[in-house]
Amino acid sequence: MGNEFAGIVEACGAGVSRFAPGQRVFARTGKERMGAFAEYACEAEQNLAAIPDGLSFEQAAAIPLAGLTALQALRDELHLGPGSRVFIPGGAGGVGTFAIRIAKWLGAHVATTASPRGRALVEQLGADEVIDYESEAFEDRLSGYDGAFDLIGSDTLSRCFDVVRPGGMVVSVAGLPEPQTASKDLDRGAVLRAMFWLASWRLRAQARRNGVTYRFLFMHPSGTELAELGTLAEAGLLTPVIDRVLPFAQIDQALADLEAGHAKGKIVVSLQAAG
Ligand SMILES: NC(=O)c1ccc[n+]([C@@H]2O[C@H](COP(=O)([O-])OP(=O)(O)OC[C@H]3O[C@@H](n4cnc5c(N)ncnc54)[C@H](OP(=O)(O)O)[C@@H]3O)[C@@H](O)[C@H]2O)c1
Repeated sequence: MGNEFAGIVEACGAGVSRFAPGQRVFARTGKERMGAFAEYACEAEQNLAAIPDGLSFEQAAAIPLAGLTALQALRDELHLGPGSRVFIPGGAGGVGTFAIRIAKWLGAHVATTASPRGRALVEQLGADEVIDYESEAFEDRLSGYDGAFDLIGSDTLSRCFDVVRPGGMVVSVAGLPEPQTASKDLDRGAVLRAMFWLASWRLRAQARRNGVTYRFLFMHPSGTELAELGTLAEAGLLTPVIDRVLPFAQIDQALADLEAGHAKGKIVVSLQAAG
């Protein structure tokens, strides 16, 4: 198990040209083979990026999955730019803490949801509007947004369609996959497309009624984009928010804490942390 890691290159395969033993690197692992929860991992060169000097291993390990997901959703799918307005439900978690700052970096106005426990954090990250999801319905306050980036799924995802203007787009990473997820993200054929078409039928019908596009993104690894995120982090624009660092021996606890769904930023597991 384990989708992302930071470490030191131990050895390189014959065709590797961009990295050398001793170099500090980080990666979101290839989708066909995970295996980051380990002392040694084997990773394809194109998924790796060098860790900038100003970042620790713990900081670097917190970036790949959440950072790439946010970058790909906000820049490649929603095409945010200066003046865009985006709604990001679930701003205090692993993906959300990156998403708020990447959306601000792209020039967008950002509305998000957080409980009172997460409000100070999302405000500090730059959210322009914060709605307490425990006491208020966000769709009563927000409308006419260019896009929504859903991190929660289920009922929250359905309600996002009321926030976005006709012609806009809802991108989810927590809802149900749709046909493009099969062809564009997973490089699969007609059978999986058909299954995802069926799975997302109700959501796509709702999107159509509102004149909005629905997209479920399954993010992809990219060493090039990871290098971009590393540069932003080193410049202080995207310092990873780390909820806590646990020793490797407590990896089961880290997973249980994540599953509880209340992490503020990322939970990192370290081989060096004291047990
Ligand atoms: N498709 C992909 O490629 C992809 C990639 C990455 C992640 N994901 C998915 O994206 C989702 C988000 O991941 P994550 O790592 O950001 O999760 P996470 O870190 O576990 O999110 C936890 C945060 O969500 C907040 N939260 C919980 N329920 C909420 C609600 N109803 N409204 C608003 N905020 C709420 C919690 O705040 P409080 O404790 O204060 O309530 C907590 O701060 C997960 O479902 C994950 O599996 C998908």
